[in-house]
Amino acid sequence: MYDSEGVEYLDMYGGHAVISVGHAHPTYVQAISAQVAKLGFYSNSVISRLQENFAGRLGKVCGYDDYSLFLINSGAEANENALKLASFHNGKKKVLSFKKSFHGRTSAAVKVTDIPNYISPVNEGLEVFFAELNDIETVSKELATGAYSSVIIEGIQGVGGIILPDDQFLRELRALCTENSVVLILDEIQSGYGRSGKFFAHQYADVKADIITVAKGIANGFPMAGVLISPTFKAVYGQLGTTFGGNHLACAAATAVLDIFEQENLVENARRVGEFLMKELAQFSQIKEIRGRGLMIGLEFGEPVKEIRTKLLFEQKVFTGVAGANIIRLLPPLSLTLDEAKAFIQRLKAVLH
Ligand SMILES: Cc1ncc(COP(=O)(O)O)c(C=O)c1O
Repeated sequence: MYDSEGVEYLDMYGGHAVISVGHAHPTYVQAISAQVAKLGFYSNSVISRLQENFAGRLGKVCGYDDYSLFLINSGAEANENALKLASFHNGKKKVLSFKKSFHGRTSAAVKVTDIPNYISPVNEGLEVFFAELNDIETVSKELATGAYSSVIIEGIQGVGGIILPDDQFLRELRALCTENSVVLILDEIQSGYGRSGKFFAHQYADVKADIITVAKGIANGFPMAGVLISPTFKAVYGQLGTTFGGNHLACAAATAVLDIFEQENLVENARRVGEFLMKELAQFSQIKEIRGRGLMIGLEFGEPVKEIRTKLLFEQKVFTGVAGANIIRLLPPLSLTLDEAKAFIQRLKAVLH
């Protein structure tokens, strides 16, 4: 990235994990330009081959090829639809979510987010229980009450500070949801789309969700999101709908992203470069804990990171993100090269030594 004076920056944040294939990738630019010159938008009441083609491609590459795909425009919207669909499916109302979770800022999505001051009185309606992440006993007791429609969980908690659910916890959670006929919703909006080094972070635990929500990296910055829905759900006319969702430009952008993923092996790149970064970051004694998978990495310091981030930005020309006061969040494009990762380590060294 470059500023208005032409100074080059290293982007270790990808605009909140949105930039998956890098900025201004020629394949991406070409695909959107060609589509807008043909047809930018038409109503969803007309079948779109672009949508069908994209849904087929995504299903194959993410390992959920028997799931349906509903396309919308933002992460919050994806979670709204997921929660609603779960409730239509089993007729129940209550949702189990987790402490430190973030699922969006609207209606039901904000109510299942564990940040009380984001919730306005009009969002209060939904009944939600927040369990500690990885506390399977509490989850088990709650689900046994029979009140729950769904459990919503991030593949890796992002806004909360890059916190991983244990693989074993996810497996037991899956089993409990099945046992109690509760819908398991995996929010992979930040941790998905290859960022963790697998297409979805929950695939490290070898579990399948009933509904998966995706957004951020899906179209490299073109507003788009998706809900992957298990074939056990019955499609009912009118339950889901959208004007802009899955429009022609969004599908062209998202299809170009999948093309680039394939051509440049970006999921594998995220795994490899992420592993390198995690190993190199271990040399800094100031970092209390390093958490994450692939190119979703949290660096927890013993003190606020504001000064470190300011120096990284203005002296070393590196963009980073933050979670809370003490955690630096790294969410670079999945196309980050090993040389760029090495450059980041050098620049961090210059700030920390
Ligand atoms: C895990 C998770 N879920 C949902 C959202 C909401 O997405 P959006 O801002 O596109 O509504 C975010 C955004 O940061 C997120 O990280």
